[in-house]
Amino acid sequence: MSAPAPLTALAAPRADRARVLGRMEALSRVGRLANGGLCRLALSDEETEARRMLIGWAQALGCTATLDPAGNLFLRMEGRRPDLAPLLVGSHLDSQPVGGHFDGVLGVVAGLECLELLVEAGGPERPVELVSWCNEEGVRFAPTTMGSAVHAGALPLARALATRDAEGTSLAAALERSAARLRAAGLTLTPRGLGGSYSAFVELHIEQGPVLEREGIAIGVVSDVQGLAQFRLSVAGTAGHAGAVPMAGREDALTRARAVMDRLDACLGALPGLRHTIGRIEVSPGAINTIPARVDFTLDARHPDPEVLARAIACVTAAEAEVTPLIHQAPVPFSPALRGSIAAACDALGLSRREMISGATHDAAQAAALCPAGMIFVPCSGGISHNENEHCPPEAVMNGTDVLAGTVFALAGKDPA
Ligand code: GLV
Ligand code: MN
Ligand code: MN
Repeated sequence: MSAPAPLTALAAPRADRARVLGRMEALSRVGRLANGGLCRLALSDEETEARRMLIGWAQALGCTATLDPAGNLFLRMEGRRPDLAPLLVGSHLDSQPVGGHFDGVLGVVAGLECLELLVEAGGPERPVELVSWCNEEGVRFAPTTMGSAVHAGALPLARALATRDAEGTSLAAALERSAARLRAAGLTLTPRGLGGSYSAFVELHIEQGPVLEREGIAIGVVSDVQGLAQFRLSVAGTAGHAGAVPMAGREDALTRARAVMDRLDACLGALPGLRHTIGRIEVSPGAINTIPARVDFTLDARHPDPEVLARAIACVTAAEAEVTPLIHQAPVPFSPALRGSIAAACDALGLSRREMISGATHDAAQAAALCPAGMIFVPCSGGISHNENEHCPPEAVMNGTDVLAGTVFALAGKDPA
């Protein structure tokens, strides 16, 4: 039997500006807030509607939609060589409670544009799958990058499905509701398993920091994602009447929690370069005239050096609180070969580039456990993100999409590695 003919890399055409910007605009209306920002929490009706739109666009291109048990949505474009491991592209459609219109969406819309360009070029050699990862933000259900972590085997599925949002709805129930709505809209959504064999995963994202804009550089080729540890801490007290219980002898959970937070700030603040954030505090029972009986708060700590992150984790676990670790992700280096492919795509387009580390975490950091992974960054105005004022100029959107397309065309037309 003769060996299959070698695949040939396809030359990437330029992305269609009106199509890309039009889809960004269409998706920006789904969950838009009065202040101009976006609230499209994971598996909410808004995110489900965004998924419905995405599936519609992809199915019009001949893609098939599949959903894994963790809620990750895949849209597969068959290749001329269906025996080859698919190339994965994408990002996420969920947002922060008050987020912007580029974090995540850009990578999905740009990935869809790659599929459009591949169809126009006669279709890929290698199958290509566009993924919209579930619950990347980790806001409605903690932790961050939940769907990709489960898909890649870093988080047990049962634990993710049992996670509850602030209203007590489990991820399992939210996922069932979302999938039912999509099926009721007439979409075919076939179940698929977790994990899989992929040739690579490439994600386009806004930088979410100020470096590219400040240096006037078009593209960041991401070398690593810094390490991350997230926790929930709970401090107990005793509820009582706000007016009747004397101050002396009170067991106020919030007073105790404030002391714990101050000690954490001192301990974590002494670690050079560490970024630490208490982003959410819940006071129970949460009544104006009742002494708090319990305070739950989150802590997010990040550093590129695993040793420093380990010292941060030691500070947190020593806190006088019930400490629940949510995620611990070591710094993730991206594939040198993919970094080379992304750099080559930049050079072919004449776009300036620099290597840089990612301060945010991303689904690509989880996918890196399954296959070579890489990321493309584009500047966002003022480095502002997780904020209603997040903005990515149209030229940056198009530059990033062109670089993604150049990378995808090269990888989807490559011989098996
Ligand atoms: C993603 O938004 C992160 O937490 O870095
Ligand atoms: Mn994101
Ligand atoms: Mn985000």
